[in-house]
Amino acid sequence: MIVLGIETSCDETGIAIYDTDNGLIADQLYSQIELHAQYGGVFPEIASRDHIKKTVPLIKQACIDANISLNDLDGIAYTAGPGLIGALLVGSSVGCSLAWALDLPSIEVHHMEGHLLAPLLDEDKPEFPFVCLLVSGGHSLLVDVKGLGDYTILGDTLDDAAGEAFDKTAKLLGLGYPGGKILSDLATKGDKNRFKFPRPMMNRPGLDFSFSGLKTAVRVTYLKEIEKDNYDESRDKEKLINDIAASFQEAIVDTLVKKCQRAIKQTSYKTLVIAGGVSANTELRIQLKELETKLRIKSYFPALKYCTDNGAMIAFAGALRLLKEKSQSNKIKAYPRWSLEDLEETLV
Ligand code: KG4
Ligand code: ZN
Repeated sequence: MIVLGIETSCDETGIAIYDTDNGLIADQLYSQIELHAQYGGVFPEIASRDHIKKTVPLIKQACIDANISLNDLDGIAYTAGPGLIGALLVGSSVGCSLAWALDLPSIEVHHMEGHLLAPLLDEDKPEFPFVCLLVSGGHSLLVDVKGLGDYTILGDTLDDAAGEAFDKTAKLLGLGYPGGKILSDLATKGDKNRFKFPRPMMNRPGLDFSFSGLKTAVRVTYLKEIEKDNYDESRDKEKLINDIAASFQEAIVDTLVKKCQRAIKQTSYKTLVIAGGVSANTELRIQLKELETKLRIKSYFPALKYCTDNGAMIAFAGALRLLKEKSQSNKIKAYPRWSLEDLEETLV
């Protein structure tokens, strides 16, 4: 089965083609980062307009890369949510229109299910059941994954998601957008022990997250430091930012790692999967790898290019669902809010 995947939920247009016999046969990605950088975050209307410009040309290019024509497709998968409504509507209307025109089934894909399944694109892939830490710009979730579509949320974000905390902290330090990568690069040059930022919700039982207080602690520390009598901007600023970045990252990573540990204990599962944009973070990868020996488990991350948004994960998730689901309505679907727990279970 050959499935076209369309991802337009936020600021990346991702188009890919997945062949269930031969794997990924095309993978196109266009990032809008430069368009949004001047606003310090995603400007929804600009995102939608740019998806309109890029989606069809990227589909044409993906077909050229895969050496197929549209008539060779067996199905079309598109991200139906969660995400920005205008951006989602571009992918869902293009996907459904193509499906009508070609008389193919279309399938709506949950963006976070795409992230969750991305590590299964690898040859060395996790098997169900597993605990998944899903950390992106909009979500921080711990999920009990029993099978395709069989998801129970164990822990959720009460305020800022992990990626959002990176982005907002980078912004308040004047570092630009998107902040996760910029801040984690600076952290490699900083002293993570200089500032002891709070580890939110660690002294309470449970698996929920809260990162907005951490961002406030960074703001207070930053302002206090630069107001010191002996603070010399040209001499001290670079070191201050690097040390704050490293200490902030350590607080987030430490919190995520401890919550993963708790989730593994709670479920008694032997497999931990980490996915979403923040799973690209090197320090998080290192510290979660260390859990393998400590807890005698195995951990899996997506390839770096499949941590952040991409079309491959949507084509793949769509193909798995199309193989199992009998009827598709070909109705245009777009849900800005959509819980993973509301997905249909599909046995694999
Ligand atoms: O999954 P994703 O591409 O989009 C959403 O679904 O939200 O995640 C984007 C998030 C952004 O907040 C970005 O700052 C963060 O992932 N991110 C990182 C890193 N690379 C991307 N956060 C920390 N370290 C990184 N290396
Ligand atoms: Zn995402």
